[in-house]
Amino acid sequence: MNIRPFRHRDLDEVMRLVDRTLEDRYTPDFFLGMWEVAPQGFLVAEERGRVAGFVLAVLADVGTLRILMMCVAPDHRRRGIASALLEDVTAAHRPRVVFLEVKKGNIAALRLYQRHGFVVTESLPDFYPDGSPGYRMEKRLQ
Ligand SMILES: CC(C)(COP(=O)(O)OP(=O)(O)OC[C@H]1O[C@@H](n2cnc3c(N)ncnc32)[C@H](O)[C@@H]1OP(=O)(O)O)[C@@H](O)C(=O)NCCC(=O)NCCS
Repeated sequence: MNIRPFRHRDLDEVMRLVDRTLEDRYTPDFFLGMWEVAPQGFLVAEERGRVAGFVLAVLADVGTLRILMMCVAPDHRRRGIASALLEDVTAAHRPRVVFLEVKKGNIAALRLYQRHGFVVTESLPDFYPDGSPGYRMEKRLQ
């Protein structure tokens, strides 16, 4: 498995992964726009030439990194890909704080982030477009 920056030719595979995996819908322009403003925050995990996962993160403020999206293909899960993406995107920005939002019912993601030292800092009722509640989670680095 190789983690590298997103390239334009990854777009179709990223879109397929998003459509298969996430409940909310996004357009290709959303990803291209994020890539333009935050190229360092858009990393893909490549496995045998295919995109097995990606992370999208952006500096929300000086020293504050926000993880916007993280996704691993179902047949590649529990092999450390999300962990590696999280570590690499954090290392690329050297932030003081990393934060994100996660749906309350998303046990896999909650466990993943807890395992990486994130703690819940806020409960977010009605946070998602479908009205479901979330948590804000945060990790402070040295
Ligand atoms: C959440 C997600 C990104 C995890 O990706 P992954 O590559 O499987 O994660 P990792 O292999 O790095 O897992 C690291 C640790 O997280 C925890 N974890 C991951 N998936 C889990 C699950 N389904 N149930 C419980 N714990 C889980 C475990 O502690 C795991 O360590 P272990 O495998 O040694 O027990 C993946 O399930 C996914 O893409 N889900 C759909 C999209 C999503 O929910 N994204 C996050 C939105 S905030």
